[in-house]
Amino acid sequence: MATRSLPTAAPLVPERPTLERLHTAAARCTACDLYKTGTQTVFGEGERTARAIFLGEQPGDSEDKAGRPFVGPAGKLLDRALEEAGIDRKLVYVTNVVKHFKWTPRGKRRLHEKPNAREIAACRPWLEAELAVVKPRVLVCLGATAAQALLGKSFRVTQMRGQIFKSELAEAIMATVHPSSILRAPDDESRHREMEMFVRDLTNIAPLVRGSEREEGLELH
Ligand code: URA
Repeated sequence: MATRSLPTAAPLVPERPTLERLHTAAARCTACDLYKTGTQTVFGEGERTARAIFLGEQPGDSEDKAGRPFVGPAGKLLDRALEEAGIDRKLVYVTNVVKHFKWTPRGKRRLHEKPNAREIAACRPWLEAELAVVKPRVLVCLGATAAQALLGKSFRVTQMRGQIFKSELAEAIMATVHPSSILRAPDDESRHREMEMFVRDLTNIAPLVRGSEREEGLELH
């Protein structure tokens, strides 16, 4: 039986991509059904010269409305953690594995729903194009969806967070928790502890983002 490959965003990726061209082309993406329920495509944001890409799962409710990644509560927490870790926000490009908000209605609220393998695969060409244009030195996966999309299905953030690997995608790749998992911590004490661990992970990779790992004696796995 002939196999039929499922549609992805690949045919929409411009031949000579720039971030601006990618942003414009992705706005028309219909490679999976999420465009039907999301308000708009939420493409990555940051400078072409950024040294690090931080990769989340998908835009949340605030991002879906604003059309910009990491502008809601999780994004604000990420900004605070970057500052505490001494990473200049201007050196960071933020994006998501899936570029439409996936949600289910719960009363008047729109509840986040995890993207499936088909949606992740359909969206992948956009991420590959972002990586090819930005060519980040450092890639940070936020949460299991991003980590497993780039480091393989068997990657466990709980066991391997904070470890820095060499990769074909960037000089160094690291996975840590998603900032929204810190927001979901059951009490102040655990939220505080989770935030400390998150900042510690980012502090470990900060010398690579700044380009000063030799002085810091950083070792890659
Ligand atoms: N969570 C994500 O993974 N990405 C965003 O842009 C916002 C929240």
